Amino acid sequence: MAILVTGGTGYIGSHTVVQLLQNGYDVAIIDNFSNSKPEVLERITQITGKTPRFYEGDILDGKKLDMIFDNENIDAVIHFAGLKSVAESVQKPELYISNNVGGTMVLLKYMAKHNVKNLVFSSSATVYGVPKHVPLCEDDEVGGCTNPYGQTKLDIEFLLKDYAKIHKDANIAILRYFNPIGAHPCGLIGEDPNGIPNNLMPYITQVAVGKRDHLNVFGSDYKTHDGTGVRDYIHVVDLARGHLCALKKLEEKPGLVIYNLGTGKGTSVLDLVKAFEQVNNIKIPYVICDRRPGDVDENYANCDKAYKEMGFKTELDIFDACRDSWNWQKKNPNGYDK
Ligand code: WQD
Repeated sequence: MAILVTGGTGYIGSHTVVQLLQNGYDVAIIDNFSNSKPEVLERITQITGKTPRFYEGDILDGKKLDMIFDNENIDAVIHFAGLKSVAESVQKPELYISNNVGGTMVLLKYMAKHNVKNLVFSSSATVYGVPKHVPLCEDDEVGGCTNPYGQTKLDIEFLLKDYAKIHKDANIAILRYFNPIGAHPCGLIGEDPNGIPNNLMPYITQVAVGKRDHLNVFGSDYKTHDGTGVRDYIHVVDLARGHLCALKKLEEKPGLVIYNLGTGKGTSVLDLVKAFEQVNNIKIPYVICDRRPGDVDENYANCDKAYKEMGFKTELDIFDACRDSWNWQKKNPNGYDK
């Protein structure tokens, strides 16, 4: 039985594929390389000694999905494929809806046709909107998303809940990621954003490697201990392991379940900068700027449910992530481009 990983050459997808292969799973990937590079497949093979079967394509292409499900004996799908830039989603909301929500609808159609019952979905803490309190629990109110990207993740969660009501034998794990950072400790795979990084850690590593001359800190007047935004930064290797815990959970036939994947700790922008400087002995110059529209003061997870119901809790911390992100960036100053 195989696991189909949509978006499996992306940042989180590739780290998850590595762990799936290392744990004996048979893996097939579909990816359109819209936010990744073919080189990732080479790196996955270098790390694991195994090569997942690969189908270049878009999840909106029903014929391609139909062919994959015909060719493969898929037991479960891990669904990462989707556009994920908050800033771009504000400029192009229709593109995000058609790609993220539309793509998931096509995937579900062919999962149902081929009687594939198990799905792990890559959701996001942005579904909580502007938190009324922290830490956030899975049964806290969702909605009021501050950007179309987050809204598409929430729309897909509602779609999956409706799907589970129709397909009573479906087992679906919705995983709400907080802020993924870090890289595989070998430095062969990591975060390689297109263009100017939206996210904090890749921007920091590009300052460290000399691609950017300083970090812009978006706002210092938030209601946090040092005035800068607080988030829950989870190491991508922990996050990937959380997907294997979710696959195991689905073997219990739980129906639809929802889990926060985070550390349960809040870290500010300046905390992360200081941790990076300390671990790597590199100075990160920064300038305090205006707030970025849509940002919230603080957002971090209550992780009790993931531990209680699937035995998942993080083992790595922000210092491990700062070390591993820098190791990836210094070995790959231009990401996957040579
Ligand atoms: C973190 C903090 C910024 C960049 C988003 C999505 C989430 C997930 C991760 C996809 C904030 C500050 C950032 C910079 C800064 N996306 N910052 N200077 O916005 O919490 O979450 O990305 O998987 O779903 O919502 O992450 O890394 O952009 O920002 O000061 O150059 O760093 O203001 O406080 P965010 P982020």
